[in-house]
Amino acid sequence: MGDAAPAPPAARRWRRLLITGAAGEIGTVLRPALRGCAERLRLHDLRPIAPLDGCGHEEVLQGDLAEPGVALAATREVDCVIHLAGIPRETGGTPEAILRANLLGCHALFEAAQQNGVRRVIFASSNHVIGFYRAGRAVGTQEPPRPSGLYGASKVFGEALGRLYADKHGIEVACLRIGAFRARPGNARELHAWISHGDMARLARCCVEAPPFHFLVLYGLSNNRRAKWGGDAAARAHVGYAPQDDAEAFAAEVGGIAPEAGSVAAQFHGGSVCELGFSGDPARID
Ligand SMILES: NC(=O)c1ccc[n+]([C@@H]2O[C@H](COP(=O)([O-])OP(=O)(O)OC[C@H]3O[C@@H](n4cnc5c(N)ncnc54)[C@H](O)[C@@H]3O)[C@@H](O)[C@H]2O)c1
Repeated sequence: MGDAAPAPPAARRWRRLLITGAAGEIGTVLRPALRGCAERLRLHDLRPIAPLDGCGHEEVLQGDLAEPGVALAATREVDCVIHLAGIPRETGGTPEAILRANLLGCHALFEAAQQNGVRRVIFASSNHVIGFYRAGRAVGTQEPPRPSGLYGASKVFGEALGRLYADKHGIEVACLRIGAFRARPGNARELHAWISHGDMARLARCCVEAPPFHFLVLYGLSNNRRAKWGGDAAARAHVGYAPQDDAEAFAAEVGGIAPEAGSVAAQFHGGSVCELGFSGDPARID
């Protein structure tokens, strides 16, 4: 886990909270859940966003965050950002598109946040930053990254940017290594990797309202009995995250949906993403 500052005073209420990627799957769940966390909620996306709530609490902006001017406008007069915008999976676009959205977009966001005096950034990282660790081994937050693919590597870059902007510019940064965000788990891997909609909303809210911190890394998981990722107990305690759902409730339904024993997907934490285009030698991977 990262460096939690001491002293936990009362919950924060920000003046303006920005959600990037607000039209996406996670953003759509967070939007109502974060109501009341700030005086105003700014929603930003490349795509159009559904109409406002009509109470004057929400603002909508549209544009490509990889454009520095767009990122600057999006973060103006913002105190806290939840940065979800990006391509969310290995197969979500060409390598160039992933690099543009997840590297250039993330850099533009952090740089604009710094220029506009944003206090806190909550970055949607991914479990795929540690995908090439052996599946049988528990993984924490201190191990060096071993991304499952280019997407995971793009999230390693985002976490490194977070560390840089925390250390160099004093922005409070929390990196959430989100597991599999679904209404319900869809296969055996997700019995340990799942985060429910409700727990994702709880986690985001905790990070928004937490007392000051410097740099935190947390896994975005439900309270799964089979969880394999951890090492973030102090960070969780600092933000007060107490997940309430457990993928085990779905074990009978999906426990049999698993990769073939001995396959690359079965051997590593990143599962099928590690297998995509694999041309290495699993025996050489410790
Ligand atoms: N869904 C998951 O299971 C999961 C797991 C781990 C991490 N994450 C991360 O969480 C974040 C949100 O995931 P999601 O599932 O909601 O994805 P999503 O694709 O549903 O939403 C992402 C949104 O970002 C927007 N976007 C992409 N590029 C942009 C750009 N250049 N400028 C502005 N907006 C841009 C897209 O239009 C989209 O609406 C992503 O960063 C993803 O990598 C998701």
